[in-house]
Amino acid sequence: MHAKTSNLQYFVFSFLSLLMLRYASSTYLSTPNQFVLNTCTSIDQPNPIASSYPNNATGTLNGTIAVLPIPLKLARKLIPSQYGILENAYRTLLPSFPEGMYPAIVQAVHDHEVQAFGYKIDDFTRTGIEFPFVDLLGDGYTSFKWAPSLLMTAGHEIAIKGAGAYGTNTFPASFEPGCDAYRSVPNSKKSGTTYFSARSLESSESLSTLFSTTEEEMFPLSFFKNFTNQPTFADGKTCDNMIRLFNTTVSAQGKGVERVKGTVRANIHPFSKEHEWRGIHGLRLDSAFIENNYLSCESFRGYTSHE
Ligand SMILES: *[C@@H]1O[C@H](CO)[C@@H](O)[C@H](O)[C@H]1NC(C)=O
Ligand SMILES: *[C@@H]1O[C@H](CO)[C@@H](O)[C@H](O)[C@H]1NC(C)=O
Ligand SMILES: *[C@@H]1O[C@H](CO)[C@@H](O)[C@H](O)[C@H]1NC(C)=O
Ligand SMILES: *[C@@H]1O[C@H](CO)[C@@H](O)[C@H](O)[C@H]1NC(C)=O
Repeated sequence: MHAKTSNLQYFVFSFLSLLMLRYASSTYLSTPNQFVLNTCTSIDQPNPIASSYPNNATGTLNGTIAVLPIPLKLARKLIPSQYGILENAYRTLLPSFPEGMYPAIVQAVHDHEVQAFGYKIDDFTRTGIEFPFVDLLGDGYTSFKWAPSLLMTAGHEIAIKGAGAYGTNTFPASFEPGCDAYRSVPNSKKSGTTYFSARSLESSESLSTLFSTTEEEMFPLSFFKNFTNQPTFADGKTCDNMIRLFNTTVSAQGKGVERVKGTVRANIHPFSKEHEWRGIHGLRLDSAFIENNYLSCESFRGYTSHE
């Protein structure tokens, strides 16, 4: 335990490592035989990069990411007024995106086998609406993603506190399905129809999706890679660098990356009421990630992902 403790001191930025150490020492050391087991089991494939990056927080994110076109004027009202919106950046990637519109993002994902230093935390699920291409630094150039609110698996203190430390509004929630990214709708007329839903236990926030596979390629894969890899913030004090990999075995095997189209219904901050979007385009995929937590946002000036 001593050797581990001194090694872990190198990872002061990672809430996962720190909290895991705290949990591991209190749980393993004081009650070694009473480790609480997760009561439901995910069918997700294992984290394929844990052994390549043993000293980083890694995991997999299985689920759906989709683009919610909203009026740029509405985006301007929702995103804190001190931050600009880098319209040129998203128009460079999506030249034919409708005039006067802005691409908000919905993510509904299951975090699986999240670990660092051989400590694994229980799986959890999270969903929310995010706002990419935000000029956090005011340099007119670097794109950040503002992710102000998340519905997250109730009772998962590590994940909820970890997100809360960014200033994220976190809503402990129940999910359907409980331990996986989405589930098939039986006997659906459309092909490959799946559902996902989340409901806050303590307030009225909720988010649900219904997606079917489609042949239409509304947005290029490079656009999804771009916004998922933008450094992410909530209150802007620190930034989260999540590096999403689209090229590991979990993305390539099985169903691979699927194009989907469907409906999203959400009642979550910063929207003031429930919204429903139909004909929404997105991707359904599993992806591995490396996460570097609580970094200085300033250190991302000029950041470009390497994918
Ligand atoms: C992602 O989740 C879906 C739904 O649970 C599952 O069918 C699929 O196998 C998962 N993908 C991987 C690569 O684990
Ligand atoms: C892994 O963590 C170290 C230390 O925090 C960091 O310097 C490095 O960039 C991380 N690796 C990746 C691939 O992000
Ligand atoms: C996203 O695309 C913009 C515009 O091309 C680019 O400036 C930025 O570096 C990209 N962001 C990432 C994380 O790759
Ligand atoms: C996957 O992409 C990452 C980031 O671009 C790169 O570092 C890595 O070498 C790639 N891996 C494979 C197997 O192509």
